[in-house]
Amino acid sequence: MVVAIDGPAASGKSSTARWVAERLGFRHVDSGALYRAVTWLALSEAGDPAGWREEAVRALAERVALSPTAAGFEPLVDGAAVGEAIRGTDVTRNVSRVAQLGSVRTWVNERVRAAGGSHDVVVDGRDIGTVVFPEAPLKIFLVADPWERARRRLIQRLGRHPQEDEIAEETEHLVLRDSKDATQTVQARDAVLIDTTFLTQAEQVDRIVALARARS
Ligand code: C5P
Repeated sequence: MVVAIDGPAASGKSSTARWVAERLGFRHVDSGALYRAVTWLALSEAGDPAGWREEAVRALAERVALSPTAAGFEPLVDGAAVGEAIRGTDVTRNVSRVAQLGSVRTWVNERVRAAGGSHDVVVDGRDIGTVVFPEAPLKIFLVADPWERARRRLIQRLGRHPQEDEIAEETEHLVLRDSKDATQTVQARDAVLIDTTFLTQAEQVDRIVALARARS
């Protein structure tokens, strides 16, 4: 069984997917973490992002693996866990550049499909319901107001309530990343659209778990 969760940046996909997977006894696959791991490696080894060549980045991807953990999968670089290093600002600013490379997308999709081939999974990303698992029995498209997404992302990052000007700045970054990722962020025709702007995380998780149980 595959549950596909897609949506724009900071729409709560990863944390929701992790929680849904735990409730269903499935494994969580964060496809964005693979794009991030490749970007992290490229930033340390491929020089100025403006000059990144597709073949060089694709070659670096060979050093990244998606390895099973107790709850899901984690990206490894040269066999070692990368942890939170892939969540840094530099990676976030440049990841869309890597995600535009067709050969890297093919490589990520193969890794994610292999994970889904061996386990029941909840996979989050941008194109999971359209490209990676078009036959998934349950597809969710998560959206939320950009200001609210920025506010939630900052609470997570700063561990406190952000100021208005901080939210405004983060909203700009999110909207910019949304536009860079627009081509691949597609709602499947048979996806269930959930707007989480006025939902708590527990409410959105409950909804998705109920839908998954009804379809499995
Ligand atoms: O989900 P997250 O924000 O961590 O993803 C990081 C980036 O990876 C996105 O901004 C997007 O460029 C790319 N991505 C993608 N397709 C996916 C998952 C992520 O293009 N399925």
